[in-house]
Amino acid sequence: MDLGLRGKIAIVTGASKGIGAACAELLAEEGTKVVLVSRRLKALEKLAARLSRAYGTDVACVAADMSKPGPAEEVAARTLEQFGRIDILINSAGSSQGGVFWEIGEATWESAIQLKFLGAVRMVRAVLPAMRRQRYGRIVNVTGNTGRQPHPRLLPGSATNAALLSFTKGLSEEVMRFGIVINALQPGPTRTEHWDRLMQGLARDTKYSAKEMERRFMDQIPMGRVAEAIEMARPIVFMCSDAASYMTGRSITVDGGWTKDLA
Ligand SMILES: NC(=O)c1ccc[n+]([C@@H]2O[C@H](COP(=O)([O-])OP(=O)(O)OC[C@H]3O[C@@H](n4cnc5c(N)ncnc54)[C@H](OP(=O)(O)O)[C@@H]3O)[C@@H](O)[C@H]2O)c1
Repeated sequence: MDLGLRGKIAIVTGASKGIGAACAELLAEEGTKVVLVSRRLKALEKLAARLSRAYGTDVACVAADMSKPGPAEEVAARTLEQFGRIDILINSAGSSQGGVFWEIGEATWESAIQLKFLGAVRMVRAVLPAMRRQRYGRIVNVTGNTGRQPHPRLLPGSATNAALLSFTKGLSEEVMRFGIVINALQPGPTRTEHWDRLMQGLARDTKYSAKEMERRFMDQIPMGRVAEAIEMARPIVFMCSDAASYMTGRSITVDGGWTKDLA
């Protein structure tokens, strides 16, 4: 199946590792030109060099802290300067922490909202002028299955994921007339540094190790294992492609069967 991604221009936030890096690699493999975004320029440059060597496509890097108001505009401007268009945006930057609600401080809530929610909103706002001009755009927000099935120990992430899903659905109706579609992926547990940090945080002050904490999560998941980042990247890249041409305002839950609903 031709995904129609060759020659397209994509911005991927949170691209230095984890799900974002896996998306960048799949896009590069499809011949998409990719702009990698995260805070650590060295990590981005290392990945960019590997991807352009392996797949012969242009890969650029922009170091930006997406939890701050200014950088989204700069990312969009640098992409336009270098490539002239913005066809695809994947918002994968995020790293909210969990815990018992009454032990979670203001700073944890603030950082979840500033990075994962407002970071994505600002990035969408920054790419929309180009996408509207082009009358073409594909946007995917990486949320989390806790957006629809909140977890009592993961509330900052659950609440921001729900907000991002609401934003995705609402905005889809506004931008469709410009040929822009916007969807979301809701990952379940995925083997990345974020997941490992989450398990270490939840295990702290309990009798469990991080490994045992993970096993307790796995007991609730029919597939009984943590996903690999590439298993999230595939459906994300599908939603960026012309193969998903009749899909907008929706999300795909990829969680090994964890979420208990009929959708
Ligand atoms: N892994 C899971 O189990 C899981 C489950 C559900 C949802 N998710 C969601 O999936 C998304 C990706 O997570 P992941 O698991 O791939 O995590 P990860 O491996 O820890 O990667 C997070 C990415 O975000 C970037 N980042 C962090 N803070 C940033 C900031 N202030 N500004 C710009 N970039 C920043 C990091 O790069 P730098 O450090 O270089 O900035 C990194 O590239 C997140 O939104 C997460 O909530 C993950």
